[in-house]
Amino acid sequence: MAILRITKYPEEVLKKKTEPVKEFGPGLQKLIDDMIETMYAAPGVGLAANQVGVSKQVTVIDVSSRDEASSLIVLINPEIIHAEGEDSCEEGCLSIPEYTTIVKRAEKVKVRGLDRSGALLEIEAEGLLARALQHEIDHLNGFLLIDRIGRIKREFFRKRFVREQAVGKE
Ligand code: NI
Repeated sequence: MAILRITKYPEEVLKKKTEPVKEFGPGLQKLIDDMIETMYAAPGVGLAANQVGVSKQVTVIDVSSRDEASSLIVLINPEIIHAEGEDSCEEGCLSIPEYTTIVKRAEKVKVRGLDRSGALLEIEAEGLLARALQHEIDHLNGFLLIDRIGRIKREFFRKRFVREQAVGKE
């Protein structure tokens, strides 16, 4: 296994809709193992394949806290088939370091996809897992959490980002 480089805003691969997975061979299995290791090393509660530069519909999620048993989910070609309620909560993203913001999402979701062997996987979730699923599926569709906030907050984010880039170059 290997720890992969995490792509960062504004890299193009993060803005592009990822391709569905059709082959479940060794290449995919290695990508999944590397993504799991990269997520735990970061550490993060979820990682989408385009966050390691691979434009495929693969995501790994583990929302368990340090003192709990692992609740690792590997999800391929996922789609949200049902969403209800509304919940606002602070969110961050490994591809946008040192930035968190309140994001409004559905409170409960039902997701359908495939597991790492290609078998059907359906997940009903609420709370942190529902949020992580929506965040990661957004990644796979080319959206970041800054696409889910209001225009004024997004402008603030962009201005801050440009300013920090300028400072970094000094
Ligand atoms: Ni993210």
